Amino acid sequence: MDKFLIKGGNALHGRVAISGAKNSALPCLAATLLSSGTVTLHNVPYVRDLITQRRLLEDLGAQTLTPDVHTHRITASNIENFEAPYELVKTMRASVLALGPLLGRFGKAKVSLPGGCAIGTRPIDLHLRAFEELGAEVSLESGDVVARAPRGRLVGSEMEFEKVTVTGTENVMMAAVLAEGRSVIRNAACEPEIPDLADLLIKMGAKIEGAGTPNITIDGVEELGDAEHWIIADRIETGTFAVAAAITGGELEIANCRPDHIGAVIDKLRDAGVEIEEEDKTTLRVKRSSGGLKASDVTTEPYPEFPTDMQAQYMALMTQAEGTCDITETIFENRFMHASELIRMGASIEIHGNKATVSGAVKLKGAPVLASDLRASASLVLAGLCAGGETMIDRVYHIDRGYETIVRKLGALGANIERIKEQITESSSA
Ligand code: UD1
Repeated sequence: MDKFLIKGGNALHGRVAISGAKNSALPCLAATLLSSGTVTLHNVPYVRDLITQRRLLEDLGAQTLTPDVHTHRITASNIENFEAPYELVKTMRASVLALGPLLGRFGKAKVSLPGGCAIGTRPIDLHLRAFEELGAEVSLESGDVVARAPRGRLVGSEMEFEKVTVTGTENVMMAAVLAEGRSVIRNAACEPEIPDLADLLIKMGAKIEGAGTPNITIDGVEELGDAEHWIIADRIETGTFAVAAAITGGELEIANCRPDHIGAVIDKLRDAGVEIEEEDKTTLRVKRSSGGLKASDVTTEPYPEFPTDMQAQYMALMTQAEGTCDITETIFENRFMHASELIRMGASIEIHGNKATVSGAVKLKGAPVLASDLRASASLVLAGLCAGGETMIDRVYHIDRGYETIVRKLGALGANIERIKEQITESSSA
C-alpha cells in the first residue's frame, strides 16, 4: 500500500483549482443507467471511486468513453446484467446507487451490501424502505440486496425519510423518475449534490421539482434520453484547502469553487480566526488572521449546517488554535478515528461519546500514522503539513478514493509531500 511522506513546516502559497465533486459525480454516473441514449458528464474528478463506479457501469453492460480523464460519455442502451458484484461494491459504498436506476428502469436489481469508509455501521435500510414505498419487493439473499418491481414498473408514492440520508434521497429520486405517476419525498436531504443530480435528470427528460429543499416532487416519465452535464465543484475539497492555508500559516487562492455551497464552513472558519475573502463567485482567498487561530465549538449536521465530511479536517485545525473547543459529531458514530492518530502527533484531544474536546495550540510532531477513512486521511495530511519533522501516512488508498492528485496539488503550493510507492515483494504480494 502506498504511503505519503510529509516534511512539515512549509506555509502554502499560490492558487489551487478545485476538482468536480466526487459525491455528485458518483450518483450522476449511476443516473446514466436510466437513459436510453448517451449521457456526457464533464468535470468528473479523476479519483479512485469514480474509476470504480465506471467499472461497475461497464460490468452492467454500459459502453463508456473517456475522451479525457474528466469527461465520461456513457451509453446504457444495452444493459443486460442487473447485478453489481461484491468485488466492486465492497470497495465503495456508493455502488449502492446502482439500485435505484436499475430498479426504476428495468424493474430488477441485485447489489451486494456495501463497504466503503469504516465510519460506523452505515445501514441502507432507509433506501430499501423507500423502494418498498414505490412498490418494490426487497429481500436480502446471502449478502445481496435483491429488489424487483412485481409489475415491471415502480409506482409513484408519497414517503417521508425518518432520518436525512444523502444517497438514500438520490437513490429514491433515481428510482422514481421512471415510475408510474407522482412521487413525493419528504425530509429529503438538501446537500448541493441533490439538486446537481436533479439538474442532470431534468436534462435527461425527468420531471422533478423541489430538489435542494426537504420536499421533492417527481412525476414519472416513460423514457429518459441524451444529456450533457457539468458536475459541481467539490465543496469538501474546497474546505480542506481552506484549512490547509490556515493550518500552515500561508495564503491560498482557491479557484473553480462554489463558496455558496460552503457557507457554514466559511462562517465557522471565520469564527476560528481564518480570513476568507470571496474574490468572485468561484474564487476564495484564505489565510490565517493576524490575531491567530482561536478555538471554536462545532457540531456536524445535515446541509446547510457544518458537514460531517469537514469534521476531521477541522479537528486538525483546532489543534493549532488557542483555547479549548468541543467538536460534536451527530451524523456518524465512530467517526473520530483520526483523533488517536492526531494524539500520536502530540495533539490534546479527549473523546466522550460523540464529543471530542480539543485543547490547543500544541506544536505537533511528525510520526508514523494510519489513515482510517477518506476524511480522516485528509486531517492527517493537514496535521503533517504543520507538524515539525516527518509524518509518514500509511493506507493512503483512502485519500485516493476522493482527492484528485492531492500530492501534485499540495506540492505546487509549496508542501514537501511525496508518495512512497509500495514495494511489491514476494511476501507482501502473497
Ligand atoms: C453521504 C456522502 C458522505 C457524507 C454523508 C453525510 C456520498 C457518496 N457520501 O453518505 O460523504 O459523509 O452523506 O453527509 O454522497 N442511515 C441509516 N439508514 C440508511 C441510510 C443512512 O440509518 O438507510 C444513517 C447513516 O448511518 C448516518 C446518517 O443516516 O448516520 C446519514 O447517512 P447518509 O446521509 O445516508 O450518508 P451517505 O449517503 O452514505
